[in-house]
Amino acid sequence: MKAKTASAFTVLEEQDVNYVKSLVAKGGPDRYDYRPFFSVLEHLNEQGFSEIRELLKPIMNEGTMVGFAYAKPFGYAGDFQIIDYMYQQKVSDNPMYSKWDVWYHEQHAAKAVRNRKEFFKNVLEELNATADKPKEVLVLGSGPATDVYEFLNAHPDSKLHFDLIDLDQRAIDYAKKKNARFLDRLNFIRMNVLRYQTHKFYDLIWSAGLFDYFKEKHFIFLLKKYQAYVKDGGEMIIGNFSDQNPSTKGMHAMLEWHLNQRSPEDLVRYALEAGTKEENVTVDKEPLEVNLFLRMKKPSNPFRNAETFISWLEINNN
Ligand SMILES: C[S@@+](CC[C@H](N)C(=O)[O-])C[C@H]1O[C@@H](n2cnc3c(N)ncnc32)[C@H](O)[C@@H]1O
Repeated sequence: MKAKTASAFTVLEEQDVNYVKSLVAKGGPDRYDYRPFFSVLEHLNEQGFSEIRELLKPIMNEGTMVGFAYAKPFGYAGDFQIIDYMYQQKVSDNPMYSKWDVWYHEQHAAKAVRNRKEFFKNVLEELNATADKPKEVLVLGSGPATDVYEFLNAHPDSKLHFDLIDLDQRAIDYAKKKNARFLDRLNFIRMNVLRYQTHKFYDLIWSAGLFDYFKEKHFIFLLKKYQAYVKDGGEMIIGNFSDQNPSTKGMHAMLEWHLNQRSPEDLVRYALEAGTKEENVTVDKEPLEVNLFLRMKKPSNPFRNAETFISWLEINNN
C-alpha cells in the first residue's frame, strides 16, 4: 500500500513529487537521473499519468520534444514533424528545456525510430546492389521521407523508383521539400493505405511507424491486399513496435502516445492468416529489439514473370 501525501497527488509519493519538481527546476534530468526517473514512471498507474503531467506542466508545450509529442499539433500521434525531430535529435536552445530533449532522444523508443531508418536504408542498399534495371519501391505511410532522402543522397545514381503514400498532405509537402533534388524518381500519393489500388507490382513494399496504429483486423487485411502487389521474387517488410518496448510507460504517461505493440509471434500469425507460407515469413529487428520487422518474401515463379518466361522459352528452344 502506497503512503498518501496531504497534497493533490494521490498516486505519486511525496518524495517522487519533490524529485520530479527538482528535475523541472533544474531544466531536466541529468544522465544520473535517468534510472530513478525511469523508476518513477514505471510505478505509475493511469491516475498517476495525469499527476506526472501536472508536475511537468512547465515543459509541456511545443518547445520541447515531450510537449510536442503530447500536444500533437497536427492532430494525431506520430506526425511527420515529431518523427523528423527525432531523426534530427532536435534539442531546444532554452536551458529549461534542453536536458528534457536530450533525455527524450536517449529513450529506447526514440533510438529505435532512428534505428529503423538505418534498417530501411540497408534494405534499400541491398536492393540497389542487385538492381541491373530500375526497381520499384512502395512506401506506406511515408511521413517526412527522411529515410528515402538519406538513401538517395548517398546513392544519387540509384535505379530505385519510389511510390510514397501518406494520408496527410502536410507530410507530403514536407517530404517533397526535403526531397526536392530527387523528385524525378519519387511519386507522392495522398491516400489512405486502406484504399490504394494499383496495377503496378513492386520489388519492395515497406512500411514503418504505421501498422502499429492498426488493429489486428486491418493489419491482416493490409497484408493480404499489399501482398498481391509484390513482384515474384520481391518482398514486403512491415515494421511494428515490440510489446517488450521499455519506453511504453513513459510514452503513455508523459506523451499519451499509444501503439498496438506486438510480439514476433503475433506478426508471424498475421502473415500466415494473410495467406503467406511459413517458409516465406521471418521477423527481423533493429539492434535494440524495440522495432520489429515482419518480412514476407514472394517466391520467384518463372512462369508468372513474363521476362523470365521468355528467356526460359529461348533457352529451351535452342
Ligand atoms: C509515424 S509516421 C512514420 C513515417 C515514416 N514511415 C518513418 O518511419 O519515418 C506515420 C505516417 O503515416 C501516415 N498515415 C497514418 N495513417 C495513414 C493511413 N491510413 N494511410 C496513409 N498514411 C497514413 C501519417 O500521416 C504519418 O505521416
